[in-house]
Amino acid sequence: MRQKGFLFVIEGIDGAGKSTQVRMLLRKLRARGLDAAALREPTRGRWGREIRAKARQAGSLTPAQELDLFLRDRRENVEKNILPGLEKGRVILLDRYYFSSVAYQGAKGIDPGRIRRLNERFAPKPDLVFILDLPAARGLGRIEGRKTRDLLFEKERYLRKVRRIFAGFRGPRFVHLDGGREKRALGAEILALTLKKMGRSGIIFDHERRPEKIDHPHRQNR
Ligand code: TYD
Repeated sequence: MRQKGFLFVIEGIDGAGKSTQVRMLLRKLRARGLDAAALREPTRGRWGREIRAKARQAGSLTPAQELDLFLRDRRENVEKNILPGLEKGRVILLDRYYFSSVAYQGAKGIDPGRIRRLNERFAPKPDLVFILDLPAARGLGRIEGRKTRDLLFEKERYLRKVRRIFAGFRGPRFVHLDGGREKRALGAEILALTLKKMGRSGIIFDHERRPEKIDHPHRQNR
């Protein structure tokens, strides 16, 4: 049975610009009168907090333990937030979902196909997955200020593998986009594809007009 709502996911390596795009998309959908909500993984729930605490002590978890924590966190998110939201007919936006487990834990040596199957046993499949692509060094450059060169080198090598797995997702629900593009132009494309998927046109009705929705064509080529 197809739920009433819609599920859209934004994925990509650290620093690819996911959170910005989720925020912009949420605002634009709401401005069109849609009942939209944004969630992120890892969550702020008990498992998500444990993941963040453990992540601060590098090497404190094996890849299998890490995967297990992400699965627990996601199962809770699916049961408490995602399925209830979809049943209410909401548009749910997700900043990371199980494709992150496939890519990040896959890059640590766990079979990506197995990770995907474990998730798809309980996690509803999204309507669309936007994968923002960016070279690992650029993603790191956007987020890391103070790490030592050795740590950065190590992380860049890891993120290169993660990026490669993200790039390998194929099928009608995956949309690969260049995360290096100007964020408003990128946001406009994500919005258009999202509305199209929901069977809505991109036409803006008068009662929906909000100043922040005015496009700035002169800024698009920056
Ligand atoms: P991130 O989105 O950066 O969250 P925050 O900025 O709130 O800490 O996610 C934290 C890290 O978790 C990120 O490097 C990707 C990783 N991750 C996985 O390894 N597997 C997963 O399943 C998910 C959801 C995230």
